Amino acid sequence: MEKTARATEKAVQRCIDASCGGTFGLRERIYVCPCCGGTLEIDCRLDGLRAGGEASVWRERWASRAASHDPIDVSGVWRYREMLPFDEPIPFVTLFEGNTPVYHGPRSARYCGLDDLRLKHQGCNPTGSFKDTGMSAAVTQGVVLGAKTAVCASTGNTSASLAAYAGRAGLQAAVLLPRGQISAGKLAQSLDYGALVCEIDGNFDDCMRLIQELGDDPSIYVANSINPFRIEGQKTVAFEMMEQCLWQPPDHVVVPGGNMGNSTALGKGFQELLDLGFISRIPKLSVIQAEGAAPVARLFASLDRKQTAGGENLPATMAPVENPRTLATAIKIGAPVSWKKALRAVLRSGGEVISVSEQEIADAKAMIGRDGIGCEPGSATTVAGIKKLVAAGKIRSDENVIAVLTGHMLKDADYAANYHRGGLAIDRDAKQGSTPQPIRGAFQNTPERVAASKSAILSAMERRRSC
Ligand code: F0G
Repeated sequence: MEKTARATEKAVQRCIDASCGGTFGLRERIYVCPCCGGTLEIDCRLDGLRAGGEASVWRERWASRAASHDPIDVSGVWRYREMLPFDEPIPFVTLFEGNTPVYHGPRSARYCGLDDLRLKHQGCNPTGSFKDTGMSAAVTQGVVLGAKTAVCASTGNTSASLAAYAGRAGLQAAVLLPRGQISAGKLAQSLDYGALVCEIDGNFDDCMRLIQELGDDPSIYVANSINPFRIEGQKTVAFEMMEQCLWQPPDHVVVPGGNMGNSTALGKGFQELLDLGFISRIPKLSVIQAEGAAPVARLFASLDRKQTAGGENLPATMAPVENPRTLATAIKIGAPVSWKKALRAVLRSGGEVISVSEQEIADAKAMIGRDGIGCEPGSATTVAGIKKLVAAGKIRSDENVIAVLTGHMLKDADYAANYHRGGLAIDRDAKQGSTPQPIRGAFQNTPERVAASKSAILSAMERRRSC
């Protein structure tokens, strides 16, 4: 394979390792750099966009598409198609992803010690998680390349999303899931959308290793976020968020961290907007991991911040967490594949990577719920993390903060029900037979058994009003 792609292409795949710098054409079905094994990203040559008019012209064009009924405009990904590495006509695969709301969360804000907090709810996507924006682009690229089967390893959301988008495109989907570690709702989605569901005896990281092996087969297309086209679809969240903020960047954007695709994508989206002059600065991007699955937070804490400022001089490797543990199963990952790209984005922005405990996640989730917003446990790491960052003086109470909620509450309804009924508990460690550690429902809302009479119901209401 040639190391340098033709200069005429709209975009190229580029190795992020500066000492390699290999570039490859968009039609190359590769997931890591064929020269050095490094991570790939897509370098969208945005000159066409620059030549197409001022920022205001593009902002107006994108905004006007939101009022159109043409499917390519309705999609919150393809509406920004000039920023994406696809030649027209694009055989786009869509379920009308994106277009997700930004809510104010006054109770969550108070809980964190902030004057205001906004929550961008990516759980309002078609399959209930943020994966849909990236999957729309990845499955479209699979179609461009003539793939027969699209595969992924997953903690449940990527698989649900791949199954749905592959179904739309008429591709076979095969998903590798760690057996017994996926919420029932997410598993049901993959089954219903017709994917081949392979339950693997192992954890997510084992599934991911198998995917990397399967990726060599020419009939197979890998749809995990190691695939740079996934990141391209997902970066549009940054564009949509900035539109919703009237192009005034917030001071902080906070996301959960698992395989680290989301943080990579947001960082890339903001950077491109800055390079084009569409925004004047990049928000500080912070990533929150669960304490029992926090390899990146651990590495981040050990970094020399001066040496690595601007995302330079990153370590070559990251020690994985061998047996990741968290009830936030979406982010139960010990060896995230996109750690380097994500770390670079966080460091460039001046953000942080920290971890939060199971108790902190559970309480933050209940607090988000009190704002009338349902998210899954992995998403609630954001509010738990913001509370910690405010307490540590890393976020000021009057700063402008957006938390990205990544999955819908109904993705893992059992977790919420168990929290409120007082039945949430996590195994203490990987050893068999250890007693589970209970998680206190500090904002528990236990259902009440009430007699079937008007007066009993009214008095139950009265009791609640007075507490
Ligand atoms: N939140 C939710 C709800 C997720 O499902 C995931 C990842 C994350 C956060 C972390 O995002 O991996 O981009 O850092 N879920 C993947 C999956 C791993 O297979 O569904 P990330």
